[in-house]
Amino acid sequence: MKQQYNLKVNIPAKHTCDYDIHIGSNLLEHAEEIVKQCSNAKKFLIVTNETIAKLYQNALNISNSTLLILKDGEEYKNFETLKKIIDTCVENRLERQDCIIAFGGGVIGDMSGFAAASYMRGIDFIQIPTTLLAQVDSSVGGKVAINHEHGKNLIGAFYQPKTVIIDTNVLKTLDLRQLKTGLAEVLKYAFIEKTCGYEKFFNLYEFLEENRQKIFALEPDITAELIYMCCSLKACVVNKDETEKGLRAILNLGHTFAHAIENLTNYRIYTHGEAVAAGIKKAFKLSLLEGLISKDYYEKSARLIDEYEITPQMPDFDIESFYNEMFLDKKAQDGKIRFVLPDNAFSVKLTSNVTKEQVFKVLQQG
Ligand code: NAD
Ligand code: GLY
Repeated sequence: MKQQYNLKVNIPAKHTCDYDIHIGSNLLEHAEEIVKQCSNAKKFLIVTNETIAKLYQNALNISNSTLLILKDGEEYKNFETLKKIIDTCVENRLERQDCIIAFGGGVIGDMSGFAAASYMRGIDFIQIPTTLLAQVDSSVGGKVAINHEHGKNLIGAFYQPKTVIIDTNVLKTLDLRQLKTGLAEVLKYAFIEKTCGYEKFFNLYEFLEENRQKIFALEPDITAELIYMCCSLKACVVNKDETEKGLRAILNLGHTFAHAIENLTNYRIYTHGEAVAAGIKKAFKLSLLEGLISKDYYEKSARLIDEYEITPQMPDFDIESFYNEMFLDKKAQDGKIRFVLPDNAFSVKLTSNVTKEQVFKVLQQG
């Protein structure tokens, strides 16, 4: 019997919205059972894309469902596709108690969740994430959105799913680059672990060091355990701060730098994970410069990030443009860039007190 995990998201202010995250291999086979436990819907709309439909259309069987297959790509995460999802709800006469199932990576999850949040002022929504990034991050915590021409995820909501069904088997068809993109978010959890405030210290850092080969080989029990640890940490943060008034911002370690990299390259050259891994390294450099962490811990972090070989060599960005791009980050407040910086082993803090000179020094180091 392969290892399976169940954990709960319970946001104190919203007890009626508690939900389970199911993690294990072959869970697609049990999806109907799980779905029926948490939704009284009479009709389901399953939203997916062409790539996932080709691979897994026949593996997900939910009775009374309609399948909507969208084009694959971040460029379709927009109003037009949102309208397509809503139009399909209308055509199929989905009612208030009915349900949208997001079956895909973060793009499908975010868009379908936003459609569910808006249609009839909110119908049920279930996440069946199929990328590692979506399994460890985007399917949990209720951030749903579409992009606007002036910004990524600019239009959205906090809208929690009824359940999350994570089948680790589907990761086998992800290409290495997409797997690494998810692993960048996993590394992030290792460096913020203590600040998440979870009851138990997993020591995700050590787990990542010891199991690198098994992780890349997607060894089933190791994969399930890894995802379980990440989701436990994320659920703990979301339970404390659903709408990112404070703590939740720690989930963005490295992201301020990453957004600048992605914006300056028009989201075309690097995956999100490649930019995040580079961003985490820069956050560590800044912390070292600010005297927040020891040289030892800095080197330890750089070693782990390098071992996972996520980020390719990047060009020298123009420093002034890079700095300006960082102000567009959603965490910026009152005209100041807010950084998530490591301040101890496996813990981080939020700070706006970093001078331009210090940031420039980090950027100059490449
Ligand atoms: P994605 O959804 O574009 O998926 C990446 C690629 O993998 C796509 O081509 C997809 O078709 C393919 N794919 C998906 N599952 C597959 C499988 N099992 N086998 C083979 N191919 C598969 O990208 P992503 O990295 O999953 O998500 C990125 C999106 O998530 C961005 O839009 C980002 O803004 C969003 N995001 C949201 C949150 C949140 O909290 N809501 C957090 C992080 C990222
Ligand atoms: N991915 C960051 C968050 O969910 O807040």
